[in-house]
Amino acid sequence: MSFSSVLNSFSVSLSNGLRIPMLGLGTSHRGGYCHEAVVYALKDCGLRHIDTAERYGCEEKLGEAIRESGVPRSDLWLTNKLWPGNYGYKAARKACLDSCSRMEVEYFDLYLMHWPEPMTPGRSNREVRAETWRALEELHKEGVCRAIGVSNFLIRHLEQLKEDCSVVPHVNQVEYHPFQQPDSLIRYCADQGIVFEGFSPLAKGQALSHPTVRRIAEKHGRTPAQICVRWSIQVVTPHPTVPVQHSSLHSVTLILLFLSEWSGHNPQIYQKEQGTRKLSSTFEFFCFFLINFRSIFQ
Ligand SMILES: NC(=O)c1ccc[n+]([C@@H]2O[C@H](COP(=O)([O-])OP(=O)(O)OC[C@H]3O[C@@H](n4cnc5c(N)ncnc54)[C@H](OP(=O)(O)O)[C@@H]3O)[C@@H](O)[C@H]2O)c1
Repeated sequence: MSFSSVLNSFSVSLSNGLRIPMLGLGTSHRGGYCHEAVVYALKDCGLRHIDTAERYGCEEKLGEAIRESGVPRSDLWLTNKLWPGNYGYKAARKACLDSCSRMEVEYFDLYLMHWPEPMTPGRSNREVRAETWRALEELHKEGVCRAIGVSNFLIRHLEQLKEDCSVVPHVNQVEYHPFQQPDSLIRYCADQGIVFEGFSPLAKGQALSHPTVRRIAEKHGRTPAQICVRWSIQVVTPHPTVPVQHSSLHSVTLILLFLSEWSGHNPQIYQKEQGTRKLSSTFEFFCFFLINFRSIFQ
């Protein structure tokens, strides 16, 4: 089995039937956008899921990287996010269409409200969120956004949206790593059919020096970054978005390594997500088998 087919054979079903590839490539502005790394990931490594945001300011460059890679748009999963400065019905519609123009694409596979707190003085946050969400519902209906979701939303934000709107978000993208485990939110999302998507799998780099992470990495002959990404995949099957930067390119790995240390972690959540058990046994099959972009392609 080729690396690319292994990488892309793991996906998660959204409530509207679309399947989102589990491992995505982040393009946050923090640390800088690296054009070569995106082209390399798409062209040479077969990565097909990219996460970006209007806020990151790299939409034009990312569009260029996609065209440069030669990967057809239809083979990609592109997530983009709406910044609160553009919340409100009209502004949200315009911002989404502007993002499409900047990236030179006709649609996004997933479009998220980036943050629950709007920056709209004089109006209630709940009202602005609902109005913004209605714009996303329309963009979804029109096919501009194949799936729609939210990011950094807490249970109370999701409950309000459920009362005020008609489409339940397909995804909630939230910080998630061994030191940030919002268990009740994860359970709530699972109950509501909202896919929980984790970001910052390395705790923004801070997890890499933690003694437990280092001990497990040493024991299995892996890097701490690989252990963290593997942990994210194993525990609740979020799909971690990993950063794209020169210095961290080697972290763009899919680690097919079964971490027995954490296999019993959060048993309720572990059993709730239907796909998790199936995925876990698949990973057990690949026990101690590691695929690394650099070692395979260089
Ligand atoms: N929805 C949201 O609100 C939100 C918020 C944050 C992030 N995200 C998404 O999640 C993606 C990842 O977030 P993140 O940047 O916070 O990720 P992260 O994986 O938790 O942390 C990345 C940081 O770890 C450092 N690092 C050290 N060793 C590394 C290694 N071996 N491999 C990779 N990184 C290493 C990097 O340092 P260097 O700079 O030296 O490489 C970088 O500063 C973003 O690009 C974005 O797409 C979404």
